[in-house]
Amino acid sequence: MKTSQRSAIQSFIVMDVMEEVARQEAQGRDIIHMQVGQPGSPAPATARHAAAAALEKDNLGYTVALGRPQLRQRIADYYRDVYNVDVSADRIVVTTGSSAGFVLSFLALFDVGDRVALPAPGYPCYRHILSTLGQKVEQIETGPVNRWMPTVEALERLHKTSPLRGLILASPANPTGTVLPPRRLAEIMSFCQANDIQFISDEIYHGLTYEGPATSAATMSEQAIVINSFSKYFSMTGWRIGWLVVPETMTPVIERLAQNLYISPSTISQVAALGAFDGLQELEANRDNYAQNRERLIAAFKTLGLGNHAPPDGGFYFYVDVRHLTDDSRVFARQMLDEAGVAVTPGVDFDERDGARFIRFCYAATKQDIDEAIRRLQSWDRLKAG
Ligand SMILES: Cc1ncc(COP(=O)(O)O)c(C=O)c1O
Repeated sequence: MKTSQRSAIQSFIVMDVMEEVARQEAQGRDIIHMQVGQPGSPAPATARHAAAAALEKDNLGYTVALGRPQLRQRIADYYRDVYNVDVSADRIVVTTGSSAGFVLSFLALFDVGDRVALPAPGYPCYRHILSTLGQKVEQIETGPVNRWMPTVEALERLHKTSPLRGLILASPANPTGTVLPPRRLAEIMSFCQANDIQFISDEIYHGLTYEGPATSAATMSEQAIVINSFSKYFSMTGWRIGWLVVPETMTPVIERLAQNLYISPSTISQVAALGAFDGLQELEANRDNYAQNRERLIAAFKTLGLGNHAPPDGGFYFYVDVRHLTDDSRVFARQMLDEAGVAVTPGVDFDERDGARFIRFCYAATKQDIDEAIRRLQSWDRLKAG
């Protein structure tokens, strides 16, 4: 069958790794999951109870496309509570995970051929979605010298060559876990504002920081697009629910797109998401667990020769330089899976240029799993030899 050229995008490699892990597990292998960026914990009990109650008494039909007003208001309140900023509920759009937030905001903002910048390494689906939609992706190389975040100088150079229409940044970032200091975020945002570049802030790892809180772009400008989700801090990946904060004039534009593309976000997930706001204590306990996992891994990686990694300020990832062990992170990750029973993601998912020398570990698992992963790596011959 003839398929469209635009559908010829690369796969999201971590999902391929997930499939291989599932195949091996079906054959009885015991594998520690450090590949996918998702909490080992379920949704908070308050979310699950709210969903269970709704199953009994609610018909769970469609909602309005922007999401239930009560949930939009609760998200707006969250900005006041956490960031001390007033965000009107009219600017909140509930989405089918942040993934749908990308599609909606890219469609609302960019035309075919528009140039959109993003950092490399970075979350692969940004570039895949953009290229499917016909935008031109401009990658800004980052590394240890700039704390794995784009600089204004690099942006300026790119913009001079040919004007940019947008910039997407995640802080804390995936795969590095690095957080952009508030001053650098402000500099980048004001460069964007001055040059008519739409700034899109992916704040999906907010709430998961270990060296001080991350700054929301919503506190700096009402023109920034903020993308967030219940997947990570709220521990609700499979519920597929997230949100956008958009300039008020954009709400009706997104609303029309959402009506046509998705009708409305999942109703049961909206109920659960509202309930999740009553479970913050449980979520903070999850965060404390990640913080402890992070400490244990920092220490273990040092002794395993894996100590050369990006500063893990937030999120739940280590992006580890393994160039002394391999020049093909895909093969190396496969060996780690097959021989040590620890699943990780090869850096090529996040960086086409240098990713062959990096692997990403996710540490959102239980303490027991992390300890077991460390034991397995300590007795893995390839690390002993390296
Ligand atoms: C940086 C980043 N943004 C967005 C997503 C997508 O999350 P979701 O669609 O579950 O909200 C992920 C998932 O790993 C991510 O790492």
